[in-house]
Amino acid sequence: MILITGGAGYIGSHVNVALNDAGYQTIVLDDLSLGHKELVPMGELVVADFGDRDVLDEIFGNHRIEAVVHLAAFTDVDDSLKRPSDYYDNNVRKTLTLLQAMLDHGVNTFLFSSTSAVYADDAEVPYTEDSPLGPLCVYGRTKLFVEHILNDYHNTYGLKYAAFRYFNAAGADPKGRVGEWHEPEPHLIPVVLEVAEGRRDHIKIFGTDYPTPDGSCVRDFIHVMDIADAHIRALDYLREGGRSGPFNLGYGTGTSVIEVIEMCRKITGHPIPAIPHGRRPGDGAVSIADCSKAFNEMGWKPKHGDLEDIIATAWAWQRKLAELRQRAALAQEAPGMGAEVA
Ligand SMILES: NC(=O)c1ccc[n+]([C@@H]2O[C@H](COP(=O)([O-])OP(=O)(O)OC[C@H]3O[C@@H](n4cnc5c(N)ncnc54)[C@H](O)[C@@H]3O)[C@@H](O)[C@H]2O)c1
Repeated sequence: MILITGGAGYIGSHVNVALNDAGYQTIVLDDLSLGHKELVPMGELVVADFGDRDVLDEIFGNHRIEAVVHLAAFTDVDDSLKRPSDYYDNNVRKTLTLLQAMLDHGVNTFLFSSTSAVYADDAEVPYTEDSPLGPLCVYGRTKLFVEHILNDYHNTYGLKYAAFRYFNAAGADPKGRVGEWHEPEPHLIPVVLEVAEGRRDHIKIFGTDYPTPDGSCVRDFIHVMDIADAHIRALDYLREGGRSGPFNLGYGTGTSVIEVIEMCRKITGHPIPAIPHGRRPGDGAVSIADCSKAFNEMGWKPKHGDLEDIIATAWAWQRKLAELRQRAALAQEAPGMGAEVA
């Protein structure tokens, strides 16, 4: 059985369905502070704080947990600069509690959601795992601290781990079971699709004077199902004695913000008005992964590496989400009526 913290969030919900599809049993531990119970269609959901030692003792004491996939975190870059203590508390201190509970209960496999934000802004792209590190924001630093802790716990306590440095997760489950649901939505592709859906009038392009072919930022978008698959691969890899450490997860290809908007126009048939805007602090020009380590050492093979595929699944999900939001709003207005609203 696998324990997934943050499994009611965007990436965690995809990891959860992928693990279930692969035959694993799962427990999702999520306090629903940013997640949604509707995003947990499989496995058992425990609604609690992952830093609650009593809850952890109960879960580890009553189930044979083979590994923990730790996705729960606060993830907003700007917000992390405004309230660092909340970010260090949630992302670092509570992770120490989780790791201690694992050690005490003899669970020694850990998959951690790290981020491309750990790399130094001026590191040469594509980033390899050995590229210079130097996060610009508190959020990135919380992730890097945990990576250091994992390395020390590996060396001292024999913890087996993979710290996945995700690049830009995007897209949704092709079967439509789960997808991205943030309020408000911080990520580019769903925000652009919200214009097509009529929830926004236009999209702002933050920075059109970067040293890139069309002047907008370039990012490495990776289908969330390929991220989920990497977790399944990592469980086998670590079980077979694979080397613990950090692994980049991206495709190694850059797509600009303007190219994303163009593809969204093609898929939705909506004109999606876009307005050039000044640069946003903290945004680097180009972020692209070198994923040779995950390919060669772990044997990870992405299956959805195509922007059209990513955006088509995100768009299908966006329309389903409109219904879910409506139901959630109605259920809140009239508690107990939720079932009748369907
Ligand atoms: N989305 C991306 O592109 C991206 C990129 C790099 C790294 N990551 C990392 O991947 C992970 C998942 O990201 P996401 O986009 O799915 O975020 P998300 O906000 O959708 O999911 C996070 C989940 O964790 C839960 N959570 C937060 N604190 C908790 C606590 N103390 N106890 C229990 N549950 C708690 C939230 O309710 C939410 O469901 C995060 O760790 C994030 O840093 C994401």
